[in-house]
Amino acid sequence: MTILVTGGAGFIGSNFVLDWLAENDEPVVNVDKLTYAGNLENLATLKDDNRHLFVKADIGDYDVMLDLLKQHAIRAVVNFAAESHVDRSIHGPEDFIQTNIVASFRLLEAVRCYWNSLEAQEQQNFRFLHVSTDEVYGSLDKTDPPFLETHQYQPNSPYSASKAASDHLVRAYHHTYGLPVLTTNCSNNYGPYHFPEKLIPLCIQNALLGKDLPIYGDGQQIRDWLYVKDHCSAIRRVLAAGQLGEVYNVGGWNEKANLDVVNTLCSILDELNPRSDGKSYVEQITYVTDRPGHDRRYAIDASKLERELGWKPAETFETGIRKTVQWYLDHQSWVNNVLSGEYQTWLDKNYAGRSA
Ligand code: NAD
Ligand code: DAU
Repeated sequence: MTILVTGGAGFIGSNFVLDWLAENDEPVVNVDKLTYAGNLENLATLKDDNRHLFVKADIGDYDVMLDLLKQHAIRAVVNFAAESHVDRSIHGPEDFIQTNIVASFRLLEAVRCYWNSLEAQEQQNFRFLHVSTDEVYGSLDKTDPPFLETHQYQPNSPYSASKAASDHLVRAYHHTYGLPVLTTNCSNNYGPYHFPEKLIPLCIQNALLGKDLPIYGDGQQIRDWLYVKDHCSAIRRVLAAGQLGEVYNVGGWNEKANLDVVNTLCSILDELNPRSDGKSYVEQITYVTDRPGHDRRYAIDASKLERELGWKPAETFETGIRKTVQWYLDHQSWVNNVLSGEYQTWLDKNYAGRSA
């Protein structure tokens, strides 16, 4: 038995592959295009592990994907591959449409063709798990209840609109063709191997480099944070026991305003790695122009997953964020290796036009 993971060199995908192989011996075929966000260094500990096969490919390459599915007699696909950064989708939506919609569609077509060729028992056992986001539900007001799986789709950015489109395709492939699919919609992840374009790793790194900690708008936008390893355990649980065609929300019950998150990072850094001038890292916080169309609040109601499949997060925000800061302090060489030319170009593009 073998599973195929897409996007397994990215942030969540690489954590998933590492945790999967730490928990059991079922091999993983890991397909990743290695965009700027994919990094084989995340998988360095698997270099001599013959349970892990890395394949550099695009999920939109129908022939390659079909060959891999057949060649390795895949029994489940876990689809992480996507363009994932909201700000990049605002600067250039094209890649998001190509990967999150067109390539996801082609992957579904390859999977459908493979699944049709299986024996009845293998068809029954097969799973296609699609990893999605809470952003497809839109934005909440302060007093609204958290998102349920039945919440209307109201995506507000090119990123979330493209993810919503792929969710709808996955749903349609179940309804129309009977493809055995599962979908998870998760809140904001944080933890090891998080690319430093996203709020938490960006602020840790900027703090250490003595640079500004950029807060969009008033910093009172709320996100619901989940430690990445808890997201991975939720996906394993849904893959093992989820009901076909169902959607499961995944979240940490950790709603925090962005400013509070950055203040927390500063106080942990003050303790673990004090500034040489004795001042707090809080001094580096800077308010900058807001993200266009910025969603005000996300909050996930993950009670279906807890009630039906018995999943709960292991980390609180306090334990997870401390582990994360410590991981970045211990892995400065990993960070320095991703601070490539492309990354610098992105920083110039995203932050140069935002007045303090
Ligand atoms: P990421 O950007 O860190 O990684 C994405 C990976 O996909 C990269 O390794 C990239 O090389 C690969 N990829 C991109 N296009 C590809 C293509 N066409 N073919 C093959 N590989 C391709 O993203 P992430 O944060 O790890 O997110 C993974 C998934 O989880 C995404 O689908 C995202 O929408 C979803 N998600 C993310 C979060 C979060 O907080 N990061 C929360 C909920 C859901
Ligand atoms: O909710 C799940 C989503 O979480 C995932 O689907 C996305 O793939 C993932 O990137 C993440 O999206 P966000 O836009 O919420 O994450 P980001 O880290 O980019 O921003 C978190 C919040 O911090 C958001 O309100 C914007 C704000 N922000 C971000 C950056 C990069 C700042 O205030 N300053 C910044 O410099």
